Amino acid sequence: MDASGPAFTSLPPGPRWPRVVQLAAWLSRPLELMEHLRARYGMPATLRFPRWPAMVSFDDPEAIKDIFRGSSDDLHAGEANEPLRPIVGSNSLLLLDGERHLRERKLLLPPFHGARMTRYAEVMRDVTLADLARWPLDTPFAVQPRTQAITLDIILRTVFGVEQGSKQETLRAALEALIGDFSRPSLMVEWLHRDLGPRSPWGRYVRTRARTDALIYGEIDARRARPRPGEDIFSMLLEARHEDGAPMGREELRDELITMLVAGHETTATALSWAFHHLIEHPSVERRVHEELDRVMGDGPIDPERSGELVYLDALIKETLRVIPVISAVGRVLHAPTTVGGIELPAGVVAVPSIYLTHRNPKIYPRPERFEPERFLETKPSPYEWLPFGGGVRRCIGMAFALYEMRIVLATVLWRHRVRRAPGASHRPVRRSVTMAPAGGTPIILTRR
Ligand code: HEM
Repeated sequence: MDASGPAFTSLPPGPRWPRVVQLAAWLSRPLELMEHLRARYGMPATLRFPRWPAMVSFDDPEAIKDIFRGSSDDLHAGEANEPLRPIVGSNSLLLLDGERHLRERKLLLPPFHGARMTRYAEVMRDVTLADLARWPLDTPFAVQPRTQAITLDIILRTVFGVEQGSKQETLRAALEALIGDFSRPSLMVEWLHRDLGPRSPWGRYVRTRARTDALIYGEIDARRARPRPGEDIFSMLLEARHEDGAPMGREELRDELITMLVAGHETTATALSWAFHHLIEHPSVERRVHEELDRVMGDGPIDPERSGELVYLDALIKETLRVIPVISAVGRVLHAPTTVGGIELPAGVVAVPSIYLTHRNPKIYPRPERFEPERFLETKPSPYEWLPFGGGVRRCIGMAFALYEMRIVLATVLWRHRVRRAPGASHRPVRRSVTMAPAGGTPIILTRR
């Protein structure tokens, strides 16, 4: 990619602020920036950052369809995900494009097939119950650290195949530190990567990464030396074979394991945190969830096999991911002139489906700012209208996993409990790395039903 970004004059309009100011706005207040673009310039609109190609954002399903259905040879998502390279590594599915991306994706997809989800259901429920036992009753606490702990444990057990014990604790601490250090927005910017010693943000991060990598490589070597067949995704990747019959390499395995952790942990934890936020803001929604849980699960315990019958809970999850999507935009770097929504875009620019603005497009969702799960009971939006997991050949491979996990975690918590608003609860979304999370981590009060 041309790092300086091509200087087109005929792109859709956008702010004339210095590029560094546009970048600062994107890092600090991306949702407000997108709203501003639409209000001031209409859609599509163009943003320009230093040392990055021009980015043209869209909120119209026809344009989104052109982007998601375009040729993967000409539209490169891997290049647009470049800021994640320092954490996920060069072999990560997130960073690959074209043929190599399609081949690697084929290798990673089988463990995420919808039908396999029931195998992970018990782990999801048991991890939630174990954590829930430690949640205080009738006292305010922030729920996001708890959802982070739950989704991390679920990934450690279902993806890494690590059972409880000292090894799990060591790996968990290392991975938490890795993600924590990387979540500073400034680390998304390549030219700020300067190792000025262990106290500087980048210096600290590279040291944490070296420690975590040593643990993961140790685990890869141990599992290769003493293979143990298992249901976890790591075991399946160890057995997976490329088309030429070769197994996945050591770095490839490391990069894909970290990719799943990075892509799947914070995203799902944040989505759960938003779901609790909407539940405390809308007691009538919580009442409907309770009615449905009582009807479907009876006296329980939560039966994952019947969780598919929780249609209102499913609508709540979909509306949660619509109203404030955890990832607010995805991008594709164009390698050939491409027509998007009737506009001819030149090669070199980034076409951006704005997930947030599409989900807030009143032509698709009447009163888009309102939280109304019922809209998903009445209609089923197309993949170009509801896109919290991106789309096309790049659509999130963990979508079925994440939706299932959210359903099991929420059903398990709400089965015997109510959630109420606690002081300090805030609507304000703040950036945590690539995700938009509720400020203050959603303080709640948990009471028994
Ligand atoms: C609520 C939770 C989640 C959300 C909102 C989410 C969202 C996304 C988005 C927006 C993309 C980019 C898609 C695109 O460019 O079109 C993506 C890609 C990806 N996600 Fe997720 N994700 C979630 C959970 C997970 C989980 C649980 C995993 C795995 C354990 C996962 C693994 C991946 C991977 C590997 C990719 C790269 C796919 C590719 O480039 O082909 N995600 N996700």
